[in-house]
Amino acid sequence: MSVYQATTSAPVNIACIKYWGKRDTKLILPTNSSLSVTLDQDHLRSTTTSRADPSFEKDRLWLNGVEEEIKEGGRLATCIREMKRMRKELEDKDASQPKISSYAVHICSINNFPTAAGLASSAAGFAALVSSLAALYSLPASPSELSRIARQGSGSACRSLFGGYVAWNMGSKPDGSDSYAVEVAPREHWPDMHALICVVSDDKKGTSSTSGMQRTVETSPLLQHRIAHVVPARMEAISAAIRARDFDTFARLTMQDSNQFHAVALDTDPPIFYMNDVSRAIIALIVEYNRVSVANGGKLKAAYTYDAGPNAVIYAPKENLKEIIELIIHYFPQAEPFKDPFGLFGAAGVQGK
Ligand code: PMV
Repeated sequence: MSVYQATTSAPVNIACIKYWGKRDTKLILPTNSSLSVTLDQDHLRSTTTSRADPSFEKDRLWLNGVEEEIKEGGRLATCIREMKRMRKELEDKDASQPKISSYAVHICSINNFPTAAGLASSAAGFAALVSSLAALYSLPASPSELSRIARQGSGSACRSLFGGYVAWNMGSKPDGSDSYAVEVAPREHWPDMHALICVVSDDKKGTSSTSGMQRTVETSPLLQHRIAHVVPARMEAISAAIRARDFDTFARLTMQDSNQFHAVALDTDPPIFYMNDVSRAIIALIVEYNRVSVANGGKLKAAYTYDAGPNAVIYAPKENLKEIIELIIHYFPQAEPFKDPFGLFGAAGVQGK
């Protein structure tokens, strides 16, 4: 008897130009394009096993050992349905393919980092889910094609289908067919780039990105300005900076965009606060670190960015990492570098595919 099972894993990605706002909540079509770096660290991955079997009565999914409900019409159900549809197309084209698209699937997913703490757990989770089903079904789909499906699980998940530097082009078609991720540059293009994750808190975040985004879209005038007048130019400029390995420009844009995303959250009614005092103290530290460098005729040495949570991600060229870690330990003596992925912080490289 044949066993139909596949295991794959996908890493977290951290946006430099943030996605915040949906123009279509069902298809998950964004109000602006975004760009991220996929992290390459064993500690920040989702690993997913999918199995199809004729004896299974219904689709089921376990996240970190706890069964999650697959709600009809919900995001999990949509991703699974779309993957089965692609498998069915393959079976219809190629009669030698076993007819497994009609079997129910059981899916087990494990995150080795705090779930829903602003560390993009849903991005890695849905990317791993889609890629494990693609492997189970032997689909000849490209990462961009799969990203269109992962997008419907969690928007930012579409960018975790690629390693390195990844853009999610918002697209303009109402059916979402032109809203998918593309590679801007592979990880090897800029091996000097590193990311330091400072886990300020691994509590679950207060406002989910879904409800936060919806509130921002409905109430924030600043978001409208950002969408129309800020992000398009930033997407161009940061892509060019990545291609030119221009850290100074990359860092400036990354910090500006993190600031604007949190300003947009604050501009929401009622306001949303994702950062806390420790997050802001880390910003002050990086600002001062860069100021001293520039005052001495140097360039920017590090860039902070924060997603929908208090945890900092600091991008920096490798040569500055030791200094940055020493600074953080000095000002945050309770930090325990590299001890474990749930300690105050750990370092990560940038992921290749
Ligand atoms: O994909 P979601 O719904 O988890 O939204 C992610 C939003 C941010 O992480 C704040 C920004 C981004 O582009 O990843």
